[in-house]
Amino acid sequence: MTPPRRAQAPSFSTAEFRAALGMFATGVTIVTARGADGTRIGLTANSFNSVSLEPPLVLWSLARASGSMPTLGTGSHYAINVLAADQKELAERFARRSADRFQGVDFTDGVAGAPLLAGAVAVFECFNRSRYEEGDHVIFVGEVERCTHRAGVPPLLFHGGHFYTEHPL
Ligand SMILES: Cc1cc2nc3c(=O)[nH]c(=O)nc-3n(C[C@H](O)[C@H](O)[C@H](O)COP(=O)(O)O)c2cc1C
Repeated sequence: MTPPRRAQAPSFSTAEFRAALGMFATGVTIVTARGADGTRIGLTANSFNSVSLEPPLVLWSLARASGSMPTLGTGSHYAINVLAADQKELAERFARRSADRFQGVDFTDGVAGAPLLAGAVAVFECFNRSRYEEGDHVIFVGEVERCTHRAGVPPLLFHGGHFYTEHPL
């Protein structure tokens, strides 16, 4: 029998798919960058993952329809800020529509002006190495030029649509 050359149509609804994906607990990041016109952008993203140690590569994905796409789809650099447990309000703020998500937020400028958020448990400053258009998202692969972390600080976690922090077993 010849192997199928394409996937069968899904046997589940988008809502079921989303709920199943939500069972995969993740950390929470805010991806930030500075556009060519100097505007700062940032959005909450939990699609972050590691790819390679040598060279140091990470990935994350962005909805094609995202308002940040014009900046991130063309820019050379971004920063991935991994949030601490006490940054839940920032995660919510950077997932909502707002005129200026950075108002009152404490940050410094990283490589290419990407905002580095104070209080993050880790920061990865990336040169964007490649982008892959897949479905309704674009996968970004970043080469990490600088990274820092704060050991022992509890991270913000996301599971089933809710925020948590760690609870050692
Ligand atoms: C916990 C959490 C994780 C999210 N992860 C992603 C993600 O990985 N990629 C993405 O495109 N949107 C993600 N979002 C949604 C965006 O943060 C949200 O749509 C935001 O408004 C996009 O901003 P923009 O349109 O200004 O780019 C996530 C939202 C939350 C609350």
